[in-house]
Amino acid sequence: MEKAWWKEAVVYQIYPRSFMDSNGDGIGDLNGITSRLDYLKELGIDVIWLSPVYQSPNDDNGYDISDYQAIMKEFGTMEDFDKMIEGIHERGMRLVMDLVVNHTSDEHPWFLESRKSKDNEYRDYYMWRDGKDGKEPNNWGSYFSGSAWQHDEATDMYYLHLFSKKQPDLNWENPKVRDEVFSMMNWWCGEKGIDGFRMDVISLISKQPDLPDGPQAPGALYGYADCANGPRVHEFLKEMNQKVLSKYDLMTVGETAGVTIEEAKRYAGFDENELNMVFHFEHVGLDGGEHGKWTDKRVPLVEFKKVMSAWQTELDGKAWNSLYLGNHDQPRSISRFGDDSEEYRVICAKMLATCLHMMQGTPYVYQGEEIGMTNMPFADISEVRDIESINAYHEMSEAGLISKEDMLRFICLKGRDNARTPMQWDDSENAGFTTGTPWIGVNPNYKTINAEAARADKDSVFHYYRKLIAMRKEEPILAYGHYALLEPDNESLYVYTRELDGQKLLVICNFTKDAVNYDIPAEFDGAQILIGNYGRTEAQGAIEVKPYEALVLKK
Ligand code: GLC
Ligand code: CA
Repeated sequence: MEKAWWKEAVVYQIYPRSFMDSNGDGIGDLNGITSRLDYLKELGIDVIWLSPVYQSPNDDNGYDISDYQAIMKEFGTMEDFDKMIEGIHERGMRLVMDLVVNHTSDEHPWFLESRKSKDNEYRDYYMWRDGKDGKEPNNWGSYFSGSAWQHDEATDMYYLHLFSKKQPDLNWENPKVRDEVFSMMNWWCGEKGIDGFRMDVISLISKQPDLPDGPQAPGALYGYADCANGPRVHEFLKEMNQKVLSKYDLMTVGETAGVTIEEAKRYAGFDENELNMVFHFEHVGLDGGEHGKWTDKRVPLVEFKKVMSAWQTELDGKAWNSLYLGNHDQPRSISRFGDDSEEYRVICAKMLATCLHMMQGTPYVYQGEEIGMTNMPFADISEVRDIESINAYHEMSEAGLISKEDMLRFICLKGRDNARTPMQWDDSENAGFTTGTPWIGVNPNYKTINAEAARADKDSVFHYYRKLIAMRKEEPILAYGHYALLEPDNESLYVYTRELDGQKLLVICNFTKDAVNYDIPAEFDGAQILIGNYGRTEAQGAIEVKPYEALVLKK
């Protein structure tokens, strides 16, 4: 397989609003990030993916952009940005920016023009349709509740918004839209020197021309807006690649809702000239139910292994995986896939990290994951900030589908704000995140779970991550080795091998709090212990795998 720096890299995601506040207004900012670059260097990561920092009215915390070439006031200035990127590059790290071009803010000048009249020159920048029998043009629901259509008085027509009504969808069929987007991207690469893009819901940009009604489950309020992997999406990305991406040495990752393995081979295929890799959603969909993510179902291990293994083996040699358990849209990985109890949090966070980082692909660490930050015990809906959770809370309870009590419980398990509480830096007030009042509550466990404590403790989750990240540089088998699943039906253990140039790894992870017996295959007799979370010095033949133990053998 051809080598590439982005195949060997470890990415760290920063959600700027919650990372570090430098001026006491309670909102994280660019100078805050710059002040913590040494921490990221110490962790050893190669790439920072920065969630949006562009000018935005913050209906969806920056994922609603009103100026792609300006910095959000709360986050600082373009000079602060320049200082930050210089600091990143000085330390040998790279910066990947979020690219949110499925939609803009409704406060973007293009949309302000577009809504003025039917013959405005920006009209076709967005998706306008007439109503049908006095109702919405089709039955699509928005990802953030309600219809995906908003009626606009000025012209008595509807515009499409797959997300909030302040996030109108751009019309990618219009070549002018594509040219605007590409020239903006060229500016960030050429003028500002960024090193790549994480492309927000990029799988949704090409809509079926006739916008047909979507399938509607019985009892559901809206139909499913089936826009994933639309008819021209690959054509658009090839054009983007030709006009922008191919001109620089970038890392590109598509956030591809609804992507299948077959589609991923196109988006991220080694010969396709589109993107380097994609985020799929299959493993984070395994604990969903009748009402989408709003349940208390847990991820069944056997299914998790099946999904992860299919992506590992089927992309091998053809396309590239992104590896993640958490991000700013997902609950905390330790709470969701593991055990965040006082007794097991540290050991279990190390196990999950091992399980992920030993796979083929580029691993992503979400801010706070490296110190084992947990879900937030929101006590009341008034503490919740996320538009998705707040809208769903009202929609589900008002429709009588889920009670308010249950919705709040589900938000504590699955809501996006779990990942958006402030980064816990130390045990001082507000976890050292701000000297002011934080925009969202700090998790009360910050006195014990914080970066300072983790750095001081050589057995911490933080130092374990450092080891895993450093190991990727020393052992090419981590990036490039072939993967094979063992024990597919074992409901407690996740066991797999990696193989490259006559070397072999055996990865054993116990996903339960019970000890489990396991016979290590004889071919690993005399193998070296590469890493583990219990300090085990010997492992051969029949062993008892301890609660949430992770063990990697190398032969
Ligand atoms: C992506 C982002 C999410 C955002 C949505 C709309 O899924 O990760 O945070 O709300 O797109 O832009
Ligand atoms: Ca601030």
